[in-house]
Amino acid sequence: MATSSPQAFPVAVLASGRGSNLAALIDAREAGRLPVDIVLVASDKAHAPALRHAEAHAIATLALDPKSFASRREFDEALFSNVAASGAQLVVLAGYMRIIDADVTAQWPGRIINIHPSLLPKYRGLHTHRRALEAGDLEHGASVHFVSAELDGGPVIAQARIAIHPGDTEDALAARLLSREHRLLVACVDAIARGKVHEHDGRVLFDGAPVSTPLRLDASGHLVTA
Ligand code: GRF
Repeated sequence: MATSSPQAFPVAVLASGRGSNLAALIDAREAGRLPVDIVLVASDKAHAPALRHAEAHAIATLALDPKSFASRREFDEALFSNVAASGAQLVVLAGYMRIIDADVTAQWPGRIINIHPSLLPKYRGLHTHRRALEAGDLEHGASVHFVSAELDGGPVIAQARIAIHPGDTEDALAARLLSREHRLLVACVDAIARGKVHEHDGRVLFDGAPVSTPLRLDASGHLVTA
């Protein structure tokens, strides 16, 4: 059962599908490892399992159908006015499969993050595991970045890396990466909630210092400089 405390940092999560990253955030929050209050889970898909998961944890949900709006801009304005009304200070895109209107993201500078399953700037967009395998890469990973107008193009906060094994399939690689994604996302949300990570002028600051190489996780799951 979700509980909230007055000092918890309010976060909204947008998700279009399964919701395993959302579940990782909820688990960490309920275990007392993440000082946030998930004030809203919203989706562009009314049947997204992520919404059912949020409901099961007594978190407010919202589903908006893009087909009910005349344009992407109108959909995103409606969505983000609900997000603003929730009191969220940070918006986490956790498997949210829509591009957000650039004018809308510009109204939330440094306050929207996304998790993407590649070592950005490699493989923006879809089918990242397949593309890493087809390229013969020896390494793959996930990135959490601040969202800018450019698809998967904002400043990268942190990355998790895994080796690609001979014979790896797309599914095997995706499955092996997923648990790393979860830890990475929880650590990034934690660092933002605690005021350790910010975006300023298109750069990531960690404890006030500019980050030139994406942060990584240490053995205890905290962000450290690479
Ligand atoms: C994750 O691989 C995430 O990196 C990508 O979409 C997937 C969402 O998975 N953006 P889930 O819905 O969180 O399980």
